[in-house]
Amino acid sequence: MSDQLSTEHLLGIKDLTTADIELIFRTADGFKEVLGRSIKKVPSLRDITIANLFFESSTRTRVSFELAEKRLSADVVNFSASGSSVSKGETLVDTVNNILAMKVDMVVMRHPDPGAAMFLSRHVKANIVNAGDGTHEHPTQALLDAYSIREKLGKVKGVKVLIVGDILHSRVALSNIFCLQKLGAEVMLSGPSTLMPKHMESLGVRVEHDLDKALRWCDVANMLRIQLERQGGDGVANFPGLREYAMRYGMDLRRYGRAEKDLVIMHPGPINRGVEVSTEVADHANSIILDQVENGVAIRMAVLYLLAARIPRTAV
Ligand code: CP
Repeated sequence: MSDQLSTEHLLGIKDLTTADIELIFRTADGFKEVLGRSIKKVPSLRDITIANLFFESSTRTRVSFELAEKRLSADVVNFSASGSSVSKGETLVDTVNNILAMKVDMVVMRHPDPGAAMFLSRHVKANIVNAGDGTHEHPTQALLDAYSIREKLGKVKGVKVLIVGDILHSRVALSNIFCLQKLGAEVMLSGPSTLMPKHMESLGVRVEHDLDKALRWCDVANMLRIQLERQGGDGVANFPGLREYAMRYGMDLRRYGRAEKDLVIMHPGPINRGVEVSTEVADHANSIILDQVENGVAIRMAVLYLLAARIPRTAV
């Protein structure tokens, strides 16, 4: 059993081995115990400085990374594109190299362009953590999602996970597919055909457009957010409207009841209440939406701790 990741960056789940994911989970288990203490802090990264670079809006991921870094005693600097010199025409590599010149060791970056984290990892000398790159990958979200399934059901292997909704614009869907498959889960996708990329079956997943049928198959339903900002206003480019979407692909108590089982409900957030899930379902006893958020801190602590272990450091 290795105690080191096979990679010096976290760019996507695609690059992780199953052993990497299991190591992250074991490490997160330890940090979850730390987070349950009255003093929720360890000195592990007190010699490390981390820059959080957010070129796209975020609540959960940004706060979760910052808390994870502070719980590990790292020094933290936060950067938002708005109000920075990016608006004066500075390139991504120049921006990051200027920040690194101030002795920063690791960069956590969210960016609207797919591949931005990979590009950065090839052009700057720092460990890069992808906090979501456009419609490509959101690796820490997938890790915390699979970790939350493991916590709720005791395993991931063999669990049937349905991912519902805007697959076309979702970085969460792709990272979840890779992560769940590496851990031995079965994955099905459901959503309108206009929000379903072609040839998804080639990734080894099943596609079922009839949501009620799909719900009879699965143990867990991960209800994705409709990414209104990526499809123009009210979504009319890809489906007739939010009301129709909610009727066909939203989860309310009636639909939940028709599944006739203790279906576990997930959502990566932010939720459009009444669209992807009703308030009653979001707050249902079998909803693990807030557990996902809670587990995000332990997972991100584990990722940062394991990546920092690959940085040559003098004893502190
Ligand atoms: N789940 C997620 O990435 O949420 P934020 O956009 O708020 O970070």
